[in-house]
Amino acid sequence: MNKDRFLLVFVFLIVVIASVGIIAYFSQNAVESIRQTTIDRRNADVDNLSIIIKEANPHLVNKAISTNYLGMHSLVAILDSNGNVITSTNNTILNNISLKKLDIFKQAINGEMGSKIETIGGTKMFVSYHAIQMPTTTWALLVIRPYDDSFSAYETAKSQVIVTVVLVTLLVTIFGLYVTRAYNSINDLAKKLDIAIKELIQADKEKGEFASMVSHDLRTPAVVIKSYTGMLLDPKIYGSLNEDQEKAVQAISNSTQKLETLIDDIFDAYKLEMKSLKLEKEDIDISNFIQQTIFELTPLCVKKGVSITTNIKVKGSVSCDSKRISQVISNLIKNSLDFVPTKGGQITIGVEKDENSNAVFTISDNGPGVPQEHVEHLFKKFYQVGKISSKQYGGSGLGLSICSLLVQAHGGKIWLDTSYTEGASFKFTLPDNKLEQI
Ligand SMILES: Nc1ncnc2c1ncn2[C@@H]1O[C@H](COP(=O)(O)OP(=O)(O)O)[C@@H](O)[C@H]1O
Ligand SMILES: [Mg+2]
Repeated sequence: MNKDRFLLVFVFLIVVIASVGIIAYFSQNAVESIRQTTIDRRNADVDNLSIIIKEANPHLVNKAISTNYLGMHSLVAILDSNGNVITSTNNTILNNISLKKLDIFKQAINGEMGSKIETIGGTKMFVSYHAIQMPTTTWALLVIRPYDDSFSAYETAKSQVIVTVVLVTLLVTIFGLYVTRAYNSINDLAKKLDIAIKELIQADKEKGEFASMVSHDLRTPAVVIKSYTGMLLDPKIYGSLNEDQEKAVQAISNSTQKLETLIDDIFDAYKLEMKSLKLEKEDIDISNFIQQTIFELTPLCVKKGVSITTNIKVKGSVSCDSKRISQVISNLIKNSLDFVPTKGGQITIGVEKDENSNAVFTISDNGPGVPQEHVEHLFKKFYQVGKISSKQYGGSGLGLSICSLLVQAHGGKIWLDTSYTEGASFKFTLPDNKLEQI
């Protein structure tokens, strides 16, 4: 039995004992007071009667006895000191048993008085005896009544108490069993949940190890392919290739690049989801940072004949992990590059400050834009606008979700500006900056 269950059973037992005890105590008191009241009333009646007898003329006594409450319900008798019945009610309670042979007669003649429960002639009786001191002698006043008759109220109350106590005990027990059962099933569920959580944590750990292993093992051959295709494309190393060979090697090189990007994206998405990606924040000069990012993307833009312009309305620095924010901007620009027209494509990078002093980055293009119905899903993992586009551009649908997680990790947010109608315009914010409006 574990500690909690032991405590529950203990508390339950205490509750049962306490409630039964309290009920029994109060009921016992109530019943006892009924009993005591019955006895007191009888004693008082007998007392009163003895006074009447003492004061009154004997021939009036009979009338007093038979009209008195006691006389109507009991055998009431007055005996002289020799045991002769002076007067008595016409009662058949004792079946002709001689009154003078009873102990209570002797007690009364000895000057005693009181009441008690006694078995007379095989029947349980409630008897009262009282000495009446007459001028020259002592009389005995005896009042005898069947016990059941006298204490019917007491007996009823007693059996009601017993029934109540039994019922309450039963109810509390049933309730306790119910609570114990509920507790057990909750406990079982908690145990199952605990096991499930442990399994999930283990599975996650294994997923992490698997992700890093896959990423490493896939990257290694990709790097080898990339360096050999680079060498093949350099005429100084293996000599010139003919046109077909060069096309083929170039295709291998492009695909390897995509493969590398995909491996990086999958691993990044995993780390971001697990919150295990550590940001290395520093203050970066906004102007240099944008120039550097554009510089790295220039070969791609030149290749597609696309121009990139900047619209930077602030100066100063932003605190961020420059590698990761550069990754966000590159992802957005690469997306734009996929969609802008080959000749006449235009991409703009803007930076400004909003009313909450966040740095707001904007990457806009003059491509087809994003259809309205896809806008709310764009930042979900693996979401792509139509299968054709993914095949056409070779994406995985991870790019924008990674952008979103990276920006959120910096405390910012990212969205598509739907008010922009000349193409697509993505915006994201970064807090924590020392920027001034130019
Ligand atoms: N500049 C853009 N113009 C039009 N559509 C875009 C643009 N950027 C993203 N999209 C749409 O959003 C989808 C999700 O983008 P992303 O998460 O980067 O995935 P991927 O580029 O791998 O397809 C893309 O499939 C594309 O259809
Ligand atoms: Mg993309």
